[in-house]
Amino acid sequence: ATVERGTADGIVSVAGLDVLTLAERFGTPAYILDEADFRARCRAWQDAFSHLDADVYYAGKAFLSRAVVRWLHEEGLSVDVCSGGELTVALSAGMPAGRIALHGNNKTRAELEYAVKSGVGHVVVDSFEELARLSWIAHEQGVRQRILLRVTVGVEAHTHEFIATAHEDQKFGFSLTGGDAAEAVRRALTLDGVELAGIHSHIGSQIFDMAGFEVAARRVVGLLAQVKAEHGVELPEIDLGGGLGIAYTSEDDPQGPQEIATALTQIVRRECAAEGLAVPRLSVEPGRAIVGPTAFTLYEVGTIKPLEGLRTYVSVDGGMSDNIRTALYDAEYSVALVSRASAAEPMLSRVVGKHCESGDIVVRDAFLPADLAPGDLLAVPATGAYCRSMASNYNHALRPPVVAVRDGQARVIVRRETEEDLLRLDMG
Ligand code: LLP
Repeated sequence: ATVERGTADGIVSVAGLDVLTLAERFGTPAYILDEADFRARCRAWQDAFSHLDADVYYAGKAFLSRAVVRWLHEEGLSVDVCSGGELTVALSAGMPAGRIALHGNNKTRAELEYAVKSGVGHVVVDSFEELARLSWIAHEQGVRQRILLRVTVGVEAHTHEFIATAHEDQKFGFSLTGGDAAEAVRRALTLDGVELAGIHSHIGSQIFDMAGFEVAARRVVGLLAQVKAEHGVELPEIDLGGGLGIAYTSEDDPQGPQEIATALTQIVRRECAAEGLAVPRLSVEPGRAIVGPTAFTLYEVGTIKPLEGLRTYVSVDGGMSDNIRTALYDAEYSVALVSRASAAEPMLSRVVGKHCESGDIVVRDAFLPADLAPGDLLAVPATGAYCRSMASNYNHALRPPVVAVRDGQARVIVRRETEEDLLRLDMG
């Protein structure tokens, strides 16, 4: 998000709205999302890939709502969904089904039927069982479903183990080196319910080093060459997934869409030329890199507990229920006092939530001014991706709203949960 800080009062604003007004109108905690920034990032991805035969699929798992789908549609992006729920949101906001791709390692029969019936552009097939099942479902519906086969290319992405996905020992996709990928191609080419359009690879998430993408691109093109040699078929499409990292703290130095577009196209073109293949249509699936930096979480400070010689525990009115990433991945965030200026000494702080466990940490180590007081507002930047979408009702917390701001206007795009929402699910 593009924020400004008032020089005299230190009050931070975004899109012409100051955080005091936002907190008063919408309460805290709240995710504040800068719509212009979101759209600008969409356009940057579109522009980076526009001179190519390429599609940008926004990965809905990072954060999806109907407003977001409309923005994507208007900016010319497609969307990748990984559940029936995400598919419903995308369709209900008017994304043409042909611009939706369905993912998942364990799609249910109902999800596959729903996707085929809706006419999704392609399904990314993850296993032999699913391949057979999907072909049968499409056959029953009298259609041929376009598919990509997801392969694991054997790259170790340098990221947290839980979010790295291309090494062999894991649940996703067909192993390239083990030969499953070649076998999946063989089967897909004989099934009449599917049309094999190409190969998909996603090597992980929060990646800074282009080398992993390059190896993946090389191996995927290698498979295309093998398919051509074995079957005389040139598959027209490859999807190299998402995973581009963003800056959570000032130490992170992410690459932009232009860098990844250049790296990928150079490799793909070179490898295709070497293999005597036509350059396939390329797609990518950024999630975090688009929505992550566009939002921050606004919290109000409550209890402050100084521990002499150690640190000060600063409790905010949310926590692991609105941002599980610190507890789950040891993720690093920054935090700032945004509701006033302070010239006080910095104090080593740990920003924690209000949940009943000590792992409920939002920002592990931060320096906040020593005069911090209950009622002050803190902002944690870069919470647009995998925060609201992974939010929970732990301790019957009410999941915070997402407020989109643009040109001095604020609009709730996902409202705050209420206690009635909680009681509605509780059958008494
Ligand atoms: N494509 C596929 C097939 C994926 O599985 C993912 C993410 C993406 C694209 C988008 O990746 P991105 O560009 O957002 O990195 N909850 C974790 C991240 C899990 C990512 C899962 N798949 C986190 O909070 O870091």
